[in-house]
Parts: sequence; structure tokens; C-alpha cells
Amino acid sequence: MRSVLPNIDEVIEKTSELPVRPEVADRVAIATLGSETTAADLVAILMHCPPLSLQVLRLANSPIYGMAGKVVCLREAVVLVGMTNLRRVLQAAATFAWMPDEAKPFPYQARSLWLQATSLAEASGLVAERSGVVEKGLAQTAGLFAEIGRWVLSMWFEHQARVTLTALVRQGVPYQEAEKRIWRKSHAQIGADLIRFWGLPDELAVAIQFHHEPSLAGDQIALSSAIWLGEYLLDSLGIGASGRQIYQNPDPITLETLDISTDDLDEIINLFMEKIDGLEADLLVA
Ligand SMILES: [Fe+2]
Repeated sequence: MRSVLPNIDEVIEKTSELPVRPEVADRVAIATLGSETTAADLVAILMHCPPLSLQVLRLANSPIYGMAGKVVCLREAVVLVGMTNLRRVLQAAATFAWMPDEAKPFPYQARSLWLQATSLAEASGLVAERSGVVEKGLAQTAGLFAEIGRWVLSMWFEHQARVTLTALVRQGVPYQEAEKRIWRKSHAQIGADLIRFWGLPDELAVAIQFHHEPSLAGDQIALSSAIWLGEYLLDSLGIGASGRQIYQNPDPITLETLDISTDDLDEIINLFMEKIDGLEADLLVA
């Protein structure tokens, strides 16, 4: 059968941003106007909006600030860029929402993808906090962007490709293997390619590339492990883009790397559950 799907590498190069809903950008821009708003407040708001967080992180990693390819954490990016410039960027995003002509107006799975991204940022941050091996802000940022490969697949590819993916998985083909059969690359690899294409730090790219196989992540094994355990927690709670359960047990390598016990995991789940209602309620795509 001849493939009619667009070339995945061309798609990556066409994805200069993630689509922002103008009304969401507007709410974030308004938040920057309050004289009481702190950098921490703004980071908390941005953590609910991956496309805007991405714009801020990319700006901080642009040559303008002399830190190109070095800013790995959203909090660091907000402080570096400063409130005045952030206000300008966020207001522009509210006015000119980016969307390529050929892509869908908004990912059809938008709500579940946003919930997964914000939940994974929270869960990965809690794992890092308990572990102490990885910086919490870094784990939150990596968790927020870990699934951007799925965003892009959702934006650019026809429903038929997703039907084929579901059919392959039902036949027992592992999820990432099924993605590779259709698009040549898994969502993890696509996410890493995007991070590099956008000029963001390579440690984020590596951690995202191996977020389903942390033992292959080399120097970034701890960061990849924090994302993996974050996904494991979400999976065990039935939260995710598809709601499917793909993890049976916590990967012992991730537990050992992060010096986390199964009792710690139970406590992290309890902490996460205290926050999850707020996450759902605050989700800026309602
Ligand atoms: Fe994933």
C-alpha cells in the first residue's frame, strides 16, 4: 500500500510552534498585568499552557539573552526574560495565534493532551522533589513537553492514521513500535527532534527521547526516569491521552536511579491526588 502520509521530518520543520488558543493566551497575558504577579505565579499559570510555555522557553534560549541552548527550566526562563518582555510576547500570542494552513485547527485530542501535559509536569515534579536527585523545576518542564510528539501527530495527521495505530495496538504491537510503522518515528523521537529543531537544550531532548526507555538515556537517566515514573503514576490513575494502561509495575531502574521506594511512590500518589482536582478545574481549555 502506498503511503500518502506527509513526511514526518518535513512536518517537524513546519511546526514552528504549538497552536495557542487566543482566549487562553489572553488570560495568561492579563495575569502578567497585575503588579502583584510574581515569577512563581506566572510559572504556575504557564504550566497549564504548554504552547505558551514553549514560546517562553524558546525566547529564553534565543541568542538575545546570551543563554542559547542552556535554559532548561521554565522558572529560569521566566526570570531571564522578565515580566515586561513576557507581557509583550504573551499579548502578541493572544493576538496572532499561529496555525499552519495544512494542519488541523486544533488537535482533536486537545483536552486530553493538555490534561496529560499538565498532569505529567506535576507528577514528574513531585517525583523529583521526593527523589532529590533531579531538580524539581527541570523535571516539571521536561514532563510538560514529554508528549509534544503526540501533539504534532494529532495536529498534522489524518484520522485514518490514528485508526491504523489503534488497530495495530489492538493486534498486540507495542505502542511505540506501532507509531514507528506508521510514521517511521515514535512520539518520543518526534518530541526530541522538535526540541532540537526549536533550539532548546539537548538534555531536554535526550530525556524526552528516552522517556519510555530511561535506561538508554545516558547522562539524562535521572531526568528520563522522573518522567517515566510520572507517566507510570498517571497511567496507574487512568490519566493520559488515551487512558490506556501500559505500565504494569514501576521500572526498578527508575526507582534505583532516583532512590525512590515503592512506599515513596504511594506517598507521591497521595500528594498528586490532592492536586489533581485543581489541575482538572484549572485546565485552561475548558
Ligand atoms: Fe510518552
